[in-house]
Amino acid sequence: MGKDVIIACDFSSKEACLSFLDKFTERKPYVKIGMELFYAAGPEIVKEIKKRGHKIFLDLKLHDIPNTVKKSMSVLSGLDVDMTNLHAAGTISMMEAALEGLTREDGTRPLLIAVTQLTSTDQERMENDLLIKEPIDKVVMHYASNAAKAGLDGVVCSPLEAQKVHETCGEKFLTVTPGVRFADGDKGDQKRVMTPEQAKKIGSDYIVVGRPITAAEDPVAAYNRCVSEFVD
Ligand code: C5P
Repeated sequence: MGKDVIIACDFSSKEACLSFLDKFTERKPYVKIGMELFYAAGPEIVKEIKKRGHKIFLDLKLHDIPNTVKKSMSVLSGLDVDMTNLHAAGTISMMEAALEGLTREDGTRPLLIAVTQLTSTDQERMENDLLIKEPIDKVVMHYASNAAKAGLDGVVCSPLEAQKVHETCGEKFLTVTPGVRFADGDKGDQKRVMTPEQAKKIGSDYIVVGRPITAAEDPVAAYNRCVSEFVD
């Protein structure tokens, strides 16, 4: 599986996103479309970005009863995205149903990855709000194993967890890792960060990078720097 840099296009309108992508005239980056942009611009934005030659990770984090998730995944698969995701907390049956819905008639399908515990959930909130008393690392690995059992392709995780996920679920199980910052850059609200180079060394398969590229003075140069540190 090829390593790649995915740009988190966290924009609130179609125009803002497309004028940002217009800057990339040589290499067409892999683009992550999240809830904000999808809810603002709808499926049309997916079709437009796809038409421009980008790969798309549609980050909508589905979590519902298996039948609803299956049918929704079938719609997303029809949009010709390359990767999408759901919450592993929805259980193994929900993940299996999602895979079924995602698989097209010809047997092809987008990659499907699971969110384990959100990085905004810490041990205290997990214990008090969710009544899960196990250590959070164990919960993350358990959810990753469930995703592997259901036949998913990988998980979204911190780069710091990537190695352990590979040890637990196999080298081929994908790790898609946000929380990436340049060594000389601003961390913003991300707490546990790694540089693209460190993420490569530790075995991340894809890095998701937002503000270090989208808010850079020269986004194309920042993207190229990520690619040269992580891919080349
Ligand atoms: O701007 P920044 O590089 O922090 O963007 C990271 C992207 O990855 C955002 O779209 C954020 O929602 C997403 N993400 C994250 N941490 C997670 C899951 C997703 O930062 N655990």
